[in-house]
Amino acid sequence: MTDRGVQLGTVQETLLIPLYGRAVENRKPEPALRDPRAEEMVEAITEAIDYDFARFDGLPSLFGSVLRTSLFDRWIRDFLVAHPDGTVVEIGTGLNTRYERTDNGRARWFELDLPDVIELRRTFFTDTARRQMIAASVTAEEWAADVAGGADGPYFFSAEAVLPYLDEPEVRHVVDLIAERFPGSLLALDTAGPGVVDTQDTHDALSKVEARIQWSCPDPAALERWRPGTRLLASHTLTTLPPELYDSLPGAYQEMLTSLAAQRLSKVEDYRLSLLRLTSRISQP
Ligand SMILES: C[S@@+](CC[C@H](N)C(=O)[O-])C[C@H]1O[C@@H](n2cnc3c(N)ncnc32)[C@H](O)[C@@H]1O
Repeated sequence: MTDRGVQLGTVQETLLIPLYGRAVENRKPEPALRDPRAEEMVEAITEAIDYDFARFDGLPSLFGSVLRTSLFDRWIRDFLVAHPDGTVVEIGTGLNTRYERTDNGRARWFELDLPDVIELRRTFFTDTARRQMIAASVTAEEWAADVAGGADGPYFFSAEAVLPYLDEPEVRHVVDLIAERFPGSLLALDTAGPGVVDTQDTHDALSKVEARIQWSCPDPAALERWRPGTRLLASHTLTTLPPELYDSLPGAYQEMLTSLAAQRLSKVEDYRLSLLRLTSRISQP
């Protein structure tokens, strides 16, 4: 995909799905979240390359991505209340606007993505004393030194709709890297089980792009077994959101989610949003 002089790779193109989801949401009279910057970016990208965002119109996944973003936002707000001078690291940030929605005026932010995405991101956002973009793969180790050298903890790592595109050994490497370099940190991630992975060619949004999910994870509790000391603090499906988030949603959304819950669709129930606490490896006696 060409944009504003930038070529976006296959997995990188997926950032346009949640971006469009937030832009569409922003136009609604009663939205789950507001994101005027997303609308501006969609307009700019459409003008620059005439990208066919309409292919995603009306897809249930747009709504799903907005709910996922709302939960990650909530976790980060909670973290920043507890640690106002903490550090948030957005892994695979895409054109997300989490900083615009949740920053507290004190925290440090790092926004990491592959080089072509950061090149595009730099046409919309600028680094500041508290906010810095990093062009790197999350699987490379160098970015961790930039973060550790640039900010004190505690750290919150947000990997929204990123890790499922890696294969399992890569995900294990990323989890190990964060745990070893930033012991005690929080990691928010999403996992897709077989109900999603095995049907992704007919998935409403993924079928419209080339990227495919690599990491199938039927149960995020498995990550506790990957490393001793890892704790799964929370895990939700879109139909079992925390009550305080569900209660804050517009009534029509609550009805939609209640109806979705009753259908028990494996493509919905096999997709989980989880919050982990990572510790450095506990040495075995
Ligand atoms: C579905 S988008 C999500 C973007 C953003 N987190 C959001 O919710 O709007 C997936 C993002 O993961 C990024 N990504 C994929 N593999 C990556 C890697 N190895 N290192 C860093 N970012 C990666 C892509 O470039 C893309 O921006």
